[in-house]
Amino acid sequence: MPRDRERLAAREALARARRVVFFTGAGVSAESGLATFRDAGGLWEGVRPERVATPEAFAEDPAFVWRFYLARRAAAAATSPNPAHRAMAEYARSDHREVAVVTQNVDGLHQVAGSANVLELHGSLWRTRCEACGAVAEDRATSFSEVPPRCRCGGMLRPDIVWFGEALPPTVFQAASQAARRCEVCVVVGTSAVVYPAAGIPYEAARAGARILVVNAEETEHAREADWFLEGKAGEILPDFL
Ligand code: OAD
Repeated sequence: MPRDRERLAAREALARARRVVFFTGAGVSAESGLATFRDAGGLWEGVRPERVATPEAFAEDPAFVWRFYLARRAAAAATSPNPAHRAMAEYARSDHREVAVVTQNVDGLHQVAGSANVLELHGSLWRTRCEACGAVAEDRATSFSEVPPRCRCGGMLRPDIVWFGEALPPTVFQAASQAARRCEVCVVVGTSAVVYPAAGIPYEAARAGARILVVNAEETEHAREADWFLEGKAGEILPDFL
């Protein structure tokens, strides 16, 4: 489809849709100044994921893992939502739409932008979980007097983030799957979509009959299979689109 007609068709589908899922990744926060994972200069270029994003890495060197997440907290705390986050939040406010933001991001910027129904598949930078008693708590500190920090029960606290080899939080994943199966349009934004099971969400939507729009800075597998692909920066494309 020629580019202009492609844009028009996607725009019309979104204007009409009553149930929409935004499936987002690190590319959405790139224009807020946060590094993605797999782009040049991305987080996984600086450190191997096995060293900071597995339960084994945490067991071996919890202080090293915490320093990585404290640096990410500090970076996230210093930023604010960009026009892409805001456009998605605004789109959900208009009309009587049922909108879910299913995100792989842990930075909390969708919520700061005002999105109400945010399903965080990979956890949150802003929560800790006790290794001993399992207690989950909100925590916005960017430094601790003792690293790793301790729970009131004496157990070691870890970031409440899903690491490689761990299951996604079941209730969040179920809610995301359900939203995907119900939606008319699934907009996939700023993700390489190579990490499963999260990356399966748009396929679930497509199998249930949804149209798929991909907005991404580069072509991805999802982009090749989508109904519409808009190549470029989410913060430039989405405000105009939504
Ligand atoms: P990636 O770094 O893998 O992919 C980011 C994607 O966003 C790439 O395809 C970029 O081309 C695109 N991108 C960059 N800037 C953009 C912009 N301004 N507008 C639109 N697109 C842009 O990040 P994710 O797909 O989020 O998991 O990575 C998925 C998961 O892998 C993460 O949740 C994380 C990581 O390992 C865990 O830590 C469990």
